[in-house]
Amino acid sequence: MNTPSNTQYTWEGRFDEPVDVLVKRYTASVDFDRRLWRQDIRGSLAHARMLARQGIISRQDLADIERGMTEIAAEIEADRFQWSLDQEDVHFNIEKRLTALVGDAGKRLHTGRSRNDQVATDIRLYLRDAIDDIRALLAGLREALVSLAEREAGTPMPGFTHLQVAQPVTFGHHMLAYFEMFARDAERFADCRKRVNRLPLGAAALAGTTYPIDRDWVAAELGFEAVCVNSLDAVSDRDFAIEFCAAAALCMMHVSRLAEELVLWMSPRVGFVRIADRFCTGSSIMPQKRNPDVPELARGKTGRVNGHLVALLTLMKAQPLAYNKDNQEDKEPLFDTVDTVTDTLRIFADMMADGIAVNAPALAAALTQGFATATDLADYLVRKGLPFRDAHAVVGAAVKAAERKGVDLSGLTLAELRAFSPLVDEDVFSVLTVEGALAARNHVGGVAPEQVRASIARARERLAAGL
Ligand code: ARG
Repeated sequence: MNTPSNTQYTWEGRFDEPVDVLVKRYTASVDFDRRLWRQDIRGSLAHARMLARQGIISRQDLADIERGMTEIAAEIEADRFQWSLDQEDVHFNIEKRLTALVGDAGKRLHTGRSRNDQVATDIRLYLRDAIDDIRALLAGLREALVSLAEREAGTPMPGFTHLQVAQPVTFGHHMLAYFEMFARDAERFADCRKRVNRLPLGAAALAGTTYPIDRDWVAAELGFEAVCVNSLDAVSDRDFAIEFCAAAALCMMHVSRLAEELVLWMSPRVGFVRIADRFCTGSSIMPQKRNPDVPELARGKTGRVNGHLVALLTLMKAQPLAYNKDNQEDKEPLFDTVDTVTDTLRIFADMMADGIAVNAPALAAALTQGFATATDLADYLVRKGLPFRDAHAVVGAAVKAAERKGVDLSGLTLAELRAFSPLVDEDVFSVLTVEGALAARNHVGGVAPEQVRASIARARERLAAGL
């Protein structure tokens, strides 16, 4: 990038003095919006083709514009394009080069258009592709979770509430909980895409244009579902980008919850899983360390994505209609959100696919340490006629006795159990086992291995249907 100089801006005709050099730097966006070059060229070509169809520019002008844009795309692709701060943004940079290459046709491209509807179009095209990428990555992550769930559908582990052992679940069931979270995220991105996928072009600066344009044709050419029907709204609102950032923040929040569990499970104190070396890093001083950096960073990066959502909400909230330069600030948060979510999902899909080794004995051992089948004992007594609240009290006393004896509930003898309630019989021991507790929760959404396998089959069907 060059240092800004005193060369003239496209719009300097009505100015008495050149713009201050620092102001040029301050107002320029080309450093970051050049990433929109593909969308900018695509939008310009659709606009130019419409202008030619409507007889607003000649066929020759269109041919020149197409030729120039092909050359420009090749230059940018090959890193030969001279991006210039003097040309403020991606739009002026490309238009200036087009005019240098093809002359007057380049100057006619901007007929019936403004950078205001142009940039809004570019961002929507960009975001539409980003959403499609993210949805594909989410599908990959969900597939990885289903496979892991299938491998561990019958692996018991403690389910926690308050991070205290609560009831037995299986590792597979636990993974499927995340599958559901990411399924909702995918749904949210798809829903957001509907509102992203509308065409602002034709709104021009804010009030539309005096040329006989055909907005529906441009919309179809660019794959937009419809046009934005109010010109002021079309150039000014960025709610679609905010919505995207909200969906991204929720998605990262889910990643972060999974990350937090992985960090915890990786701690030698817990030892539930081992994360493959390629997702870990060492310490510069402590030779023994293997740190779960990937989940930790994902947890950390959730903060910046949340921040971008708040930045965009704040950017928008006090803007009067229609376009204001404030909106130029929408890009960096948006781009960083896309980059962060994209990288995170890609790495997590890999890691969950074959980077997690589950330590079943450690999970089983943890299950014997928290009276995880206490609710099952209460339910057993209820089935024998005791009101649930009374059963709760009886089991509480039994737990206290087992704790004193240093055993799990199944470690108490029949006689010891019967001391708490005469309703207890020999058959009690089948409900006090983990297998019994799991199998008993046999309904849709329950943890019984049979149900988990049914959920896995449904999950696969949903993925195959693109849901
Ligand atoms: N770089 C600008 C942006 O990102 C393009 C639109 C500028 N329009 C204007 N009237 N200054 O928003």
